[in-house]
Amino acid sequence: MTTAVCPGSFDPFTLGHLDVVRRARSVVDDVVVAVARNASKSALLDAETRLEIVRNALSEAGLDDVRAALVPGLLVDFCTEIGATVVVKGLRGGADLDAELPMSHMNRHLAGVETVFVTADPALAHVSSSLVKDVARFDGPIDDLVPAGVGTVVRAALQSSKGA
Ligand code: PNS
Repeated sequence: MTTAVCPGSFDPFTLGHLDVVRRARSVVDDVVVAVARNASKSALLDAETRLEIVRNALSEAGLDDVRAALVPGLLVDFCTEIGATVVVKGLRGGADLDAELPMSHMNRHLAGVETVFVTADPALAHVSSSLVKDVARFDGPIDDLVPAGVGTVVRAALQSSKGA
């Protein structure tokens, strides 16, 4: 059986991410969502919160056989540990491809892990974690861009980061 990993920083997990996971699951029997650290981004939400959000979203979406886990280090080490041979990522456009290609090449170089890309649903192509945070930061509506309950968590984190 092929195991696929859907990795991301998921800060926060969005409906776009959920769509990619759902579609990965439609072609691969065993899918694991991997909450990882992107060294070029500083996260608003801590890793445990991001993981909990992912687990709740999977459960709400009925994706009960999709697991979620934290990646403490290199993604390829995690893939090797769990026996995953494929990474699945979403592409919204050229900027995503530019960011993803070097990572895909590096993961194949390091451990022979292949990357398969899913093109984003056009209805969700404008949804990114950074824009969700940006809209929320200025009190804009984000609840229709993220799974249920995530907007509240993001707003609370932004509020406490203002106070810090
Ligand atoms: O959602 P993102 O930020 O585009 O996801 C990028 C992520 C977290 C998947 C990537 O930064 C990653 O794999 N991080 C784990 C550490 C690692 O393996 N770095 C080398 C990547 S080639």
